[in-house]
Amino acid sequence: MNDEQSGDVAPPPSGAAPTSRLALAGLCLATLPWWAWGACQAEALPKSVQLPVWAAACGLSVLGAVFGFRRSGRVARSAILVGLFSPPVTFVLGLLSGAAQGKYGPHGRPLRRGGRALTPEAAPTRAWLTPIERLPPDERAAAAWRRTASVELASVAAFNHLANELLAVGAPPELVLNALRDGRDEVHHAVACYSLAQAFDGRSEGPAAFPPAVTPRPAGPATVQTLVLECLVESGLFEATSALVAGRLAARPGLAPTVRDTLARIATDEARHAEHGWAVVEWGWWAVSHELAQRALASAEAPRGDVDLLNAGIADDVVWADCFRQAKQAAASRLASLRSAAARCAADGAPPGRAA
Ligand SMILES: [Fe+2]
Ligand SMILES: [Fe+2]
Repeated sequence: MNDEQSGDVAPPPSGAAPTSRLALAGLCLATLPWWAWGACQAEALPKSVQLPVWAAACGLSVLGAVFGFRRSGRVARSAILVGLFSPPVTFVLGLLSGAAQGKYGPHGRPLRRGGRALTPEAAPTRAWLTPIERLPPDERAAAAWRRTASVELASVAAFNHLANELLAVGAPPELVLNALRDGRDEVHHAVACYSLAQAFDGRSEGPAAFPPAVTPRPAGPATVQTLVLECLVESGLFEATSALVAGRLAARPGLAPTVRDTLARIATDEARHAEHGWAVVEWGWWAVSHELAQRALASAEAPRGDVDLLNAGIADDVVWADCFRQAKQAAASRLASLRSAAARCAADGAPPGRAA
């Protein structure tokens, strides 16, 4: 006897398929992977829990399909369909959005939430452009430089957040000043990159309004540990990688002078930003364990590049991967030195925050 027969069911309206509360519950369960996927996209969940939450949602989704399978009616059939199709479909969507995210490799330390780079859309404006000579038309190069510019602009927001968060945890003035100066560098990088994009396609475009620039962290205020781990990965690793990539590209023969000059400036600035990141790591080293820092470094993945745009000053996957490997090795050995220095300080009874 099913629920419909047992009286567990509201009487169906005339002409409608019979349903049951259990089938409705099954349908609700079946949609959970979509809710989990949406929460991941909206950065409402920390990256570390996204996969377990999504896996649990998929399990419940299949359970919803089972509930549907044991009932009859339109709602029950919907539960079966949604419960069986949601896990694979949301998995593919997750892969696609992850791949799109990986494209944001260029030079900077973009504002991230839940591990995902937040960047502005492009909009018609001359405000972020400076006059430079036109280059041979190349739509792909223009798009790649505009994408790079959006990451540079998001880096302005990231450094402004960093300056405020350093203030909030009582960091010394030189670290706050570094963050403010680095944010100013990123403004110049963004202008240079939007201008290069215009040089390639003639379009006057800059960033659209970028509300995430003032969005606080969903998980609440940053701690010293959060800032140290972020500076280690975002600056000590990613900005160091960007410096290597920009320096390598700037040395390529045959680049247009404006492209070469932009890359050379970015290389110098990003190397300095990486050092500023290490300054935060050394200051707050007492707040993290060596193992935690190692794990943060190890879990970072190489940024992605573009194909066949080296002559336009845009790195491909090979250049990114090579520079990333080099920067990661350097960061790992610097972490090891920091650990030794911290151990020496501890043995000498020196106060925390003076590991290097
Ligand atoms: Fe930077
Ligand atoms: Fe930059």
